[in-house]
Amino acid sequence: MLVNPEHVPVLADQAVSFLEAAGVPGNGKIVDCTLGLGGYSEKILRTFPQVQVYALDRDPAAVEIAEARLTGHGPRFRAFRANFGAMEEVLAEYAPLDAFVFDLGVSNMQLADGERGFSFQNDGPLDMRMDSSGAGITAANLLESLSAEELTEIFWLYGEERHSRRIAAGIAEHRRRKGPLKTTGELVGLIREILPAPVQRKMGGHPARRVFQALRIRVNDELGELEAGLLAAAGLVSPGAVVVVVSYHSLEDRVVKHTFRTWEREEKRGKALAKRPVLPSAEEIEANFKARSAKLRAFQFSDICELKQTRR
Ligand SMILES: C[S@@+](CC[C@H](N)C(=O)[O-])C[C@H]1O[C@@H](n2cnc3c(N)ncnc32)[C@H](O)[C@@H]1O
Repeated sequence: MLVNPEHVPVLADQAVSFLEAAGVPGNGKIVDCTLGLGGYSEKILRTFPQVQVYALDRDPAAVEIAEARLTGHGPRFRAFRANFGAMEEVLAEYAPLDAFVFDLGVSNMQLADGERGFSFQNDGPLDMRMDSSGAGITAANLLESLSAEELTEIFWLYGEERHSRRIAAGIAEHRRRKGPLKTTGELVGLIREILPAPVQRKMGGHPARRVFQALRIRVNDELGELEAGLLAAAGLVSPGAVVVVVSYHSLEDRVVKHTFRTWEREEKRGKALAKRPVLPSAEEIEANFKARSAKLRAFQFSDICELKQTRR
């Protein structure tokens, strides 16, 4: 397992500043919905020396590593292996909760480990499951079983890949002639074969980037999970609670923006804390390439809101 001890979480200072500015109680209960290597949890535990942190991650490897890193904080830190869909079940007994932070997507550890199959830069099995325990469908399963039309739709919907149809047709053709794709390296090589060189040059990034993003989102149902997580959070909040979300692509940001707007305008449950998303500084982007696409949005529930049951 690859762990970077100098792990620097994206937009963590800004996320914690929102919690402070919104007046999260010093002895409150804060949920780190995306524990990863524990960078956000650690920052929260240090900034608020009395708070209780509950942290979730669907990846058992992340929970194990972060628990070991944060063990010095004793019972103030509790980690659960759970996905957003199970958040209500896991956290109901601790509600009402004063803040929820989400730092979406995959962690550096998941990306760097070729065996997890997330990266087009490291060869490994076409897996891409955030839950490394072995349950659920893999990217290889999708590439082997879906029709060219279904693959086109996935690449277009979740990757906004303009060459979706051509890439999907090439994958289906490869399957017929040579059998299923097994590794990330094979998929990258095939995409490079399918797309003519001038097209690749115009893509402004790695030619496989959008296909990898699309497969990862579909394998982990990331957008459905995000909606479920925000809905669960809204059902567990205390009056005045804050929700902070850091997203990494427009599809996630759209879900967050739309949900906050619904909470504010239709449900009248509070207000978005900034009109425009907060972006990382040029220095942060220079120090941490992953930060380049990050956007932070925050919402505060009003003081008079009641602890509501989540709607199904
Ligand atoms: C970007 S990383 C978080 C990094 C973390 N903030 C840190 O400082 O180390 C995102 C983490 O969220 C987890 N995750 C993503 N979607 C999830 C979901 N639906 N349910 C639970 N965990 C999820 C991933 O497994 C990954 O470990």
